[in-house]
Amino acid sequence: MSDASRVVVITGGSKGIGRAVALRFAVEKPRIIIVHFDPDESAVRETLRSLSGLGVEAEGHKVDVSSHAEVEAFFKEVLSRLGRVDVLVNNAGIVKDTFFMRMSEEEWDTVLRVNLKSVFNCTQSVIRSMIKQRSGRVVNISSVVGQIGNPGQANYAASKAGIMGLSKTVAKEVAGRGITVNVIAPGFIKTDMTANLPEKVKELFLQQIPMGRMGNPEDVAETVYWLCSEGAGYITGQVIHVSGGLYM
Ligand SMILES: NC(=O)c1ccc[n+]([C@@H]2O[C@H](COP(=O)([O-])OP(=O)(O)OC[C@H]3O[C@@H](n4cnc5c(N)ncnc54)[C@H](O)[C@@H]3O)[C@@H](O)[C@H]2O)c1
Repeated sequence: MSDASRVVVITGGSKGIGRAVALRFAVEKPRIIIVHFDPDESAVRETLRSLSGLGVEAEGHKVDVSSHAEVEAFFKEVLSRLGRVDVLVNNAGIVKDTFFMRMSEEEWDTVLRVNLKSVFNCTQSVIRSMIKQRSGRVVNISSVVGQIGNPGQANYAASKAGIMGLSKTVAKEVAGRGITVNVIAPGFIKTDMTANLPEKVKELFLQQIPMGRMGNPEDVAETVYWLCSEGAGYITGQVIHVSGGLYM
C-alpha cells in the first residue's frame, strides 16, 4: 500500500489539533476525509483550502460522532465509495467544565458521548474493513487529564481515561491482524479549546510544565503521523504523552 493511496479519516479535523494532523499527512498526498460538527463551515473550508493548496484530495463532512446511527451510515458510504480506510484518527472532543458537586447529568452524558462513545462508534465502523485488509492504524486523542485528573473536569477526565482502556483492549483484539491502536495524551495545547481559559488557570498550568510553554497543535500532529508510519508498526496499545513533561 503506497502512502498516496491511503485513506485517512480525521474526526474533529476542521481546526486545532485535527487540522494540524491533516496538514501533516498532506506530505504523502493521501485521500483525507475531515469530519467535524462546527455550527458553521468556515473552519472546515479553510482546512480544505489549505489541503487543496498542497495538492491533496480532501473532503469535509458534518457528522455528529456521538451518534451511532449517523457514524455508521457515514462510514458505510465512505467504505462503499473508496473501498478502504487505512488511518482513523479519533480526535473530536469537547469540554463542559464545572466542579463535580455541580455537574449536571446532561454535562456528564454529553461529554462522555462526544469524547468516548464516539471512539466506539467510529472505530467499530471501520475495524471490520481493516481486519479484512489486514492493515490499519487507529490513533485516539486522549488527554493528560485522563491520567492525572483536573478540578472541574470529572466528565472530561473520565472520558479521556475511558479512551485509554478502550484502546488497549481493541489493540489486543486486533494486533494479530496488522492493525495498531494507540493513544496520544496531549498536555496543554494552543487551540480554541484552551483559548478562553482564565489567565490564572493558564499560569497554574504553565508552572507545572517543565518545558515552561504550551504545546502547539503541530507537536501533537507529528506524533500522530509517526504512529501511522511504517516504522511504528511494532507499537500498539501505548499511551504517548505530548505535554512538555507535564506528566512523566
Ligand atoms: N487543546 C488542548 O489543550 C488539548 C489537550 C488535551 C487533549 N485535547 C484533545 O484534543 C482533541 C482536539 O482538541 P482541540 O483543542 O483541537 O479542539 P477544538 O475545539 O479546536 O476542535 C474540536 C474539533 O472537534 C469537533 N467536534 C466537536 N464535537 C463533535 C461532534 N459531536 N462530532 C464531530 N466532531 C465534533 C469540532 O467540530 C472540531 O473540529 C480533543 O479530543 C481534545 O479533548 C486537547
